[in-house]
Amino acid sequence: MKAHMITYGCQMNEYDTHLVQSQLVSFGADLVESIDEADFVLVNTCAVRGKPVDKVRSLLGQLRKVKSQRPLVVGMMGCLAQLEEGQQMARKFEVDVLLGPGSLLDIGAALESNGRFWGLQFKDELHEHIPPSPQGKLQAHLTIMRGCDHHCTYCIVPTTRGPQVSRSPDDILRELDLQLAAGVQEVTLLGQNVNAYGVDGGARLAGYPSFADLLRLVGKSGVRRIKFTTSHPMNFTEDVAAAMAETPAVCDFVHLPVQSGSSRVLRRMAREYSRETYLGHIAAIKKHLPSVVLATDIIVGFPGETEEDFQETLSLYDEVGYDSAYMFIYSPRPGTPSYKHFADLPRELKTERLQRLIVKQKEWSKLRNATKVGTVQEVLLRGDAHSEGFLEGHTRGNHPTVVPKAFGADGAGVYPVLIGHSTPHMLYGQIVGADGQPLPEIPQLEPQAAALSSPLQMA
Ligand code: 5AD
Ligand code: SF4
Repeated sequence: MKAHMITYGCQMNEYDTHLVQSQLVSFGADLVESIDEADFVLVNTCAVRGKPVDKVRSLLGQLRKVKSQRPLVVGMMGCLAQLEEGQQMARKFEVDVLLGPGSLLDIGAALESNGRFWGLQFKDELHEHIPPSPQGKLQAHLTIMRGCDHHCTYCIVPTTRGPQVSRSPDDILRELDLQLAAGVQEVTLLGQNVNAYGVDGGARLAGYPSFADLLRLVGKSGVRRIKFTTSHPMNFTEDVAAAMAETPAVCDFVHLPVQSGSSRVLRRMAREYSRETYLGHIAAIKKHLPSVVLATDIIVGFPGETEEDFQETLSLYDEVGYDSAYMFIYSPRPGTPSYKHFADLPRELKTERLQRLIVKQKEWSKLRNATKVGTVQEVLLRGDAHSEGFLEGHTRGNHPTVVPKAFGADGAGVYPVLIGHSTPHMLYGQIVGADGQPLPEIPQLEPQAAALSSPLQMA
């Protein structure tokens, strides 16, 4: 069988795609790069906003056409598959295999069934499953929990991914060891709400560390860089900032979605924190990590958001001074409380606010990126950039960075890079030696050099 997977959505979905791909390989499938080559196409879907749902709809339409011309098995997995909306789509577009986010390990059974196979249960075995490590990659994701116990009124995720289930620390560390053995240098710990790790359904699980202690544990593994995403401010504790500060491998990067700067809107979103509490968390993070890089998610045009509310979002942005932000127009999702109870704002109003927020974001990203010019950053280069002759990667603070291929550095690796120029979205630099001077030859940094301490090396 030749299988092709297409992934929409977040890093959790990328992780799940890798997990299912490795299962497919273990069932004898050949992974191919295009629909044309495939006899099984599996689409990993996202349901968080209308746009990704529309994309899946049009792709399934295309696949139905292909299916009418030649034998093809079509599958749909992930968040949309769990919803009635996705299941209706699956019927309409003659999808053969449907796997919800809790049923991914049913892929084998699905392949064996020669007809339609729908798996929509949340199965415990998924949490214990350790997928083989990605080969030849410097970066890996590691899921530490699945699902979410919060009930933000706009969000469909608690429905699609179910209640929170933390993975055992043993399984996490075992998976990490395999990743390290495969050459991984940066691991991103994943969960809908990593700060609530080990506290499922409101109760701490016996034998599970707090998230802060998990960071400390993972920090002892020898991995060069640790990142994590995403955090709910409600469950944030100062101990997480302290653990970050005392664990050199943990990158000084925090993605703390605020969603709105107005306490009134936050209440209507059921976010369980106020503007003031959020700013208190930011102050604690900055106290422990003075050079922290901060990122956030913001929704504009939530039902009932007034101009004053929106102004509060803009002023919060200035107070925090984020390096970057993911900004979204509110999208009413069937099945969420806000869809049911609140009237959507006019499209033009929402778009206009988004434009103003983007202006704010660009100002700050420009300012923040400019502070990196003249510093040496540790950059993980993934490989070729879009422009020929350049390599692309990112810093410990997640800044996308581009360097010219030079001095024999033509592939992936972790290098010190002197930043020479910046735009709001990119840092441009050149690979240098530990002394900050361009190198005649580029040796790769050894993993032991993870805790680069000299200010020259790690600005
Ligand atoms: N509309 C717009 N954005 C949303 N998000 C989640 N649900 C919605 C929605 N209904 C955004 C939030 C979240 C990110 C993953 O997606 O900002 O943090
Ligand atoms: Fe990820 Fe949420 Fe989209 Fe599911 S709905 S893929 S959890 S962003």
